[in-house]
Amino acid sequence: MSVEALPSPVRTGFPPGFVWGTATAAYQIEGAAAEDGRTPSIWDTFSRTPGKVRNGDTGDIAADHYHRYRDDVALMARLGLGAYRFSLAWPRIVPGGRGPVNEAGLDFYDRLVDELLEADIAPVATLYHWDLPQELEDAGGWTNRETAYRFAEYAQAAARRLGDRIPTWTTLNEPWCSAFLGYGNGVHAPGRTDPAQALAAHHHLLLAHGLGTAALRAELPAAAQVSLTLNLAAVRPVSDDPADLDAARRIDGLANRIFLDPVFHGSYPADVLADTAEVTDWSFVHDGDLAEISRPIDSLGINYYTPTVVGADDPAAPADRQDGHAGELSPWPADRGVRFLPAEGSRTAMGWPVDADGLYELLTRLRDDLPGVPLLVTENGAAYEDYCDPSGAVHDPERIAYLRGHLAAVRRAIADGAPVRGYFLWSLLDNFEWAYGYSKRFGIVHVDFASQRRTPKDSAHWYAEVVRTGVLPD
Ligand code: FCB
Repeated sequence: MSVEALPSPVRTGFPPGFVWGTATAAYQIEGAAAEDGRTPSIWDTFSRTPGKVRNGDTGDIAADHYHRYRDDVALMARLGLGAYRFSLAWPRIVPGGRGPVNEAGLDFYDRLVDELLEADIAPVATLYHWDLPQELEDAGGWTNRETAYRFAEYAQAAARRLGDRIPTWTTLNEPWCSAFLGYGNGVHAPGRTDPAQALAAHHHLLLAHGLGTAALRAELPAAAQVSLTLNLAAVRPVSDDPADLDAARRIDGLANRIFLDPVFHGSYPADVLADTAEVTDWSFVHDGDLAEISRPIDSLGINYYTPTVVGADDPAAPADRQDGHAGELSPWPADRGVRFLPAEGSRTAMGWPVDADGLYELLTRLRDDLPGVPLLVTENGAAYEDYCDPSGAVHDPERIAYLRGHLAAVRRAIADGAPVRGYFLWSLLDNFEWAYGYSKRFGIVHVDFASQRRTPKDSAHWYAEVVRTGVLPD
């Protein structure tokens, strides 16, 4: 048989056992907001606050996955996917954020996990994808240290019930967004706008990660994997000018090292502490916290969409804030003197420049900075203006081009020694895209939200072929 006929690692560039999946999150797809004992999260409250979410959209029904999960798993099986990254809704499992466990809420995930295993799809569960129980927010949310302890209790309850069947657990999804968009510029729930609170929230989220990791380890079988997903930034200085390089250092600190140093080295970077000294004295960091936060984990999840280009601020120019995050205020707690510029290249429907090299840069940087830490791309994908044509097809050539480019970047990073073990495309389904509501479609499966009809887009068929062969077709 010729080499051409085999999807061998040599020919495909993706190693044996490479995990191919898709990703979603509870509030974005489940709906059933008030069923089986679920109580409101900060996103239920935020989406009901006038002016916060486009068109006043909410996750009340979303893609109705709570009722249609069987069909959705069958769809994944038809696409040949090997893994599914989803999140558990804290307000289903521990309604109100503390107190008794709601078995009816856990029953849903029990059914989902069994359905996945039946279809030979590995479940990858994230504990926190932004849906903090509202009662905990009322008690201070992530600015309150106690929230981290409540998170560990919730993690334990989830692992106790589901740990025998879920091999990979992620504590948090993108704590940068929870802290800096939620408490910094307020474009995400709970919508607070205070840089000092954003940094306190950041620390308490990391503490929750550490305490949650310990709680998971106490419940899970020894072979289970515990991970954390970060939206690290591929930060590029706009020039070699020392002032631009310093802007890049500052944003690299606030986007990347503010997570990587405490989680992997047990300390906060000195330059970040200095840069943020005008905002906070960091007295929320207690003795022992960093030991908790730096408990060993088994892999690191990376979400990547677009690079971050920065330079020194030009006081004469109007403030340039093209960091990909909407809002009038800056989410960055101490970005004085920094200008954000768009990368070159075409834009997605989010306005995010398409630049696959950023993913390569990130993965090879982590290869160097975190030797021996396996990496997973836990999100990558793009929104475009998709529509179902009269023949019932959804042609999305731009998304296919985006995916091909980014998967080629992953393949190149692997060839250059980055230990990337899997790729989860964001997203399986069109869904509630946070402050953009249903106006942005990231799915490889189109959802008609009026009828809940699912239509695999051309990109779904393309991705199925990639998963089947390990080759990136034209
Ligand atoms: C990430 C989120 C995910 C989705 C994508 C587009 O920041 O984790 O829920 O909204 O962006």
